[in-house]
Amino acid sequence: MSLAQRSSTKWRDFGVNVVENDWVGHSGHTRGRDMPGSKSKRLVFVDAFAGCGGLSLGLMQAGLTGRFAIEHDRFAFATLQANLLSRGAKFRFNWPRWLPKEPQPIEAVLGKHGRQLRQLQGSIDVLVGGPPCQGFSTAGRREHDDPRNRLFASYLKLVECLRPKIVLIENVRGFTMDFEQASKNYAALVRDELSNAYEVYDQLLDLSKFGVPQARTRYFLLALRKGLTAENPFELLAKRLPSFLRKLGLTAPISAWAAISDLETARGGTRPSSETVGFEEIAYAGPRNSYQRLMSNGAAAPGDLRLARHSPEITARFGKLIRLSHAEGRLNRSISSKTRSRLGIRKQALRVLDPDRPSPTITSMPDDLLHYSEPRTLTVRENARLQSFPDWFSFKGKYTTGGKLRKREVPRFTQVANAVPPLVSRAIGEMIMELLLDKPKRRGSSSASLSLQRINQSTEIVPHA
Ligand SMILES: C[S@@+](CC[C@H](N)C(=O)[O-])C[C@H]1O[C@@H](n2cnc3c(N)ncnc32)[C@H](O)[C@@H]1O
Repeated sequence: MSLAQRSSTKWRDFGVNVVENDWVGHSGHTRGRDMPGSKSKRLVFVDAFAGCGGLSLGLMQAGLTGRFAIEHDRFAFATLQANLLSRGAKFRFNWPRWLPKEPQPIEAVLGKHGRQLRQLQGSIDVLVGGPPCQGFSTAGRREHDDPRNRLFASYLKLVECLRPKIVLIENVRGFTMDFEQASKNYAALVRDELSNAYEVYDQLLDLSKFGVPQARTRYFLLALRKGLTAENPFELLAKRLPSFLRKLGLTAPISAWAAISDLETARGGTRPSSETVGFEEIAYAGPRNSYQRLMSNGAAAPGDLRLARHSPEITARFGKLIRLSHAEGRLNRSISSKTRSRLGIRKQALRVLDPDRPSPTITSMPDDLLHYSEPRTLTVRENARLQSFPDWFSFKGKYTTGGKLRKREVPRFTQVANAVPPLVSRAIGEMIMELLLDKPKRRGSSSASLSLQRINQSTEIVPHA
């Protein structure tokens, strides 16, 4: 049974009509706004599975307007609300009155607001989303029946309700890998599903090429409504990359040192945490290079600077580990078995940051990574820097969670780790603006979308700069 068949059965339960692909070529300009082609037109997006808002933020920085976002976790939603919804926020969603500003599952939004969603047809240019990835992750077990993976059906349902011009999906690399007992993978299912109405393009992108100080490869899918343009959006993205970086004063790759050296406690010292009694935080002493200035953007000291409370024994062991890892030249990689047994370290995932290279992929486990010179794990702010979040963007909710709650809650470290780095979504947003606004009928090479096989074979797809 195809995802379409499985999901349309489910969609009926939401009380929303499933319209069978009768909308190819729908004109879809934004009501009450300028016609496509006008420079003054603001493109509008909706973010499903918005998390803390990394993807939304980058699109807003690019100049797109957010209509609304769907996120069911209270901590992630609190972050989104504080930064992208509150009065006086730098960037703000143009939230519809009919949708409560509260955490809600996508199923509830589809179930309760099907009519209002359909009324938005023609006014939404882009639907974006990063459906939860744990079920696809190559690091975890890949379970075909994982209920989280079925959320893709809801996402596709939202596509049918809103009928955006462009659909953008981000996910982990495991999204393109075949299920063990089936011939397909999720990326292939989604592509099949969208290909009636859209030209579908997808690529694995190396995000360090976008100036993100992190080795992070992610799957991106861009579906463009048929007839919209013949241009391959990934080719345009790659073409625009050098000028994107130049404009921001960045030269990729950015090292971990370049990203977080202004946050060393050796520089500004520490002080009692402004947030939590009994904790210390980094005393911020100001940016010292172009990446740090870009992130700081004239803001006062950032938040989320709380330091972990390591015992003196752990601090001493971390100190030795950092020295040995530098001496062995074993940075950004797992600790050697010799050092592991010498220091009595059991944690396999632990590694010491290499100051001279982009960091390894940020995870939701704050104790996976040690600072390159200070005997401690990284703060939320340092992780946020490695994800290219600006300093004014603050995170809300618990810092970490454990046990059974780990499956249900999205604390700060997880919000940061889950996010699409804003620098990447900004580059994609600017590319979409050029694609839709600068030349309404761009005549590019009409490349067929990449075959899944090609994606599975590739280790990474590097933008051709
Ligand atoms: C990978 S994260 C998205 C990150 C986001 N794109 C960003 O850039 O910050 C996926 C999010 O989906 C949310 N989520 C999971 N199931 C959901 C559901 N049924 N309805 C709404 N949100 C859900 C999770 O709480 C999580 O924050």
